[in-house]
Order: sequence, then C-alpha cells, then structure tokens
Amino acid sequence: MCVSTVSTEHDWNFETTRMAPVLDLPLPPLDKKRFRFVEVLAQQDRPIGQIELYHDCQQNCKVVGKRMLRSWTLGSAKEFEDEHPELLESPWKELALSLFVGSTEMKGICKCYGAFEDPKGDVLIFLEYICGGDIHDLARRCTTEPGPEREAKAWPVILSLLGAVQSLHHIGVAHGDISLENALLSPDGEVRLVDFAASVTDTRTRGIRGKPSYQAPEMHTPNSYDPFAADLFACGVFAYCLVVADYPWRCTSPNKCAAFDFYLLHGLPAFLAQRKLRFEGMQRCCPAICFRSHFMCFLICICMYIYIYTHLCM
Ligand SMILES: Nc1ncnc2c1ncn2[C@@H]1O[C@H](COP(=O)(O)OP(=O)(O)OP(=O)(O)O)[C@@H](O)[C@H]1O
Ligand SMILES: [Mg+2]
Repeated sequence: MCVSTVSTEHDWNFETTRMAPVLDLPLPPLDKKRFRFVEVLAQQDRPIGQIELYHDCQQNCKVVGKRMLRSWTLGSAKEFEDEHPELLESPWKELALSLFVGSTEMKGICKCYGAFEDPKGDVLIFLEYICGGDIHDLARRCTTEPGPEREAKAWPVILSLLGAVQSLHHIGVAHGDISLENALLSPDGEVRLVDFAASVTDTRTRGIRGKPSYQAPEMHTPNSYDPFAADLFACGVFAYCLVVADYPWRCTSPNKCAAFDFYLLHGLPAFLAQRKLRFEGMQRCCPAICFRSHFMCFLICICMYIYIYTHLCM
C-alpha cells in the first residue's frame, strides 16, 4: 500500500544530506485514479504548500495530501540544503520522517500512506485524515471558561499528548515543533502528532525550533541542548494553553517578553499567581486560584523535570 518507503535498517539516518539514498527516490508519480482531489483544507502560513483533502479510491476513505511545492522542496534534499544551509526545518526531513514513523502504526502518530510526485514536481505526502481537526482550533472554539470544568476536559488530551511524545521519543525522534496546531484530535479522543519538518534524531542539537511561545529557553543560547527535554517544555506550554485558553508568554527569548522574564526571575508558582486570565465574559483572576491543585502540580513537575534533565543530567 505504501508505494514509497524508507529503509528501517539500523543504518537509517535522518540527516538531510544523507537522506536521499534511504528514500525511495525519485518518488512515484501521483496516481490520480487512486487519489481524487476533494478540497483544500488549510493554506500554509508561508507559500510552501497546502493541506488538501482527497478521496482514496483504494482504501475507500478520505485522506489528507500535504502538498509541498516544487519551489520549496527544490527537487532534492541536496538542492534544498545547498539553498538553505541555515534552516533547521526541511521538507525532505518531514517526508522521510512522515513515511518512517507514519508507517509504524505507532500510537499518537498520524498514519502515512506514501508520498508521490505530481506532474508539476510538487511532493504530496498522504496521511490519515483526522476529522476532529487540530487542537488549536478545538481550544479556540471551546466556550468552557478556564477553571475546573475546562481542566477536566483537557486532562485526557494532555495525557494522550504525553503518550504520543513518549512513543516518538522511544524510537529516538524529538518532534521539535510541538504545539496545539501540530496535534490533531482523532474521533477516539487520542492525540495524533503531525508536521515533522523540525524533528531531531540527535541527542544534542543547537538552534531555534518550533513556535515562539513553545521554544525551550535553552534554544536561545549558543550552547547545545537536549531536543527531547525541549519537547517536554513545549508539552508544558501546550497544557497551559489548553487549560488557560491563552498563551503564558509571547516568546521565550530573554528581554523580549515581560511575562517570560517574570517567570524566569520569580519561578512558576509566582507567575501563576500574578498572570491574569483573559477569557471573554470572565472576571480577570489568576490561574493559581482558578485551577485544581493537581494541574498546578503537573506544570510545576514538568518544569522541575526539565530543569533537572537539562542542567544536571548533561
Ligand atoms: N492528517 C490531517 N488531518 C486533518 N487535518 C490536518 C492533517 N494534517 C494537517 N492538518 C491541518 O493542517 C494544518 C497544517 O498542517 P501541518 O502542520 O502539517 O502544516 P505546516 O507545515 O505546519 O503549515 P504551517 O507552516 O502553516 O503551520 C494543521 O494544523 C491541521 O489543522
Ligand atoms: Mg504545523
């Protein structure tokens, strides 16, 4: 079923420079009889492609085609890297990882049905269609105000996210861009991760990955950091955003966001006691008095764990 596959031998290497040989390139041409275009589901923020809905006549179900434009992929991993040596994300890495992790039936990862090239030279990665949509959208539409009821709804999602991240880490992949937008909620209530363009398979890495609010603070130093611990920091921000219905801070680079600078200086409990909730129709109070203690404990534990992991276990 998966026409284009990657080697799962132990010499598998995700680095873009060495990726082309393990990918089955060139990709097979798009089979238009099998995949019937239905509609565009989402435009990407940048002109690099879009998310499309198809009907897969072979499986008789809806599937998602993630289109990556030829002008973005540049036709090969080598061309891409030569053109963008500074970029930490790569469509080729995304392609290889989606095929690899998406074909393993791994818990919490969106299934992948193969990748193809269309006549214009665009790459299409076919993924399981998750009709529940992304969690950013779900959180935005949720009218339950921050408090115990919203927290109770969020817990299963947070636990499912942690399970998905654990499975991914178990096979040696750090996601690199965990966010509400990159987590989909399947009808069985489980989180499915998508978007592997910023993933890392090394135990240490450098550079800034992911969306500004979710970036672990150590990314903003010249030092190397543990990308697996950085994923956990993003999980903490994810949990906060879902329960509080707001971002804790705009970004995590020093001296750019007063909220994050306050958190760094005074710690999480003081931050939660001082930050004001912004939710339509709700009196402005702080997260610390609004939530049950075990959510607070969870956030504090995740912070302490990351601190110990990054500063003491290096
Ligand atoms: N398999 C899927 N099923 C349903 N919706 C999906 C699926 N894959 C992606 N989407 C939707 O498309 C959005 C963008 O997908 P994705 O994260 O893969 O692209 P992206 O490269 O991050 O785009 P951008 O740069 O705009 O964030 C997701 O947030 C989600 O709403
Ligand atoms: Mg994304």
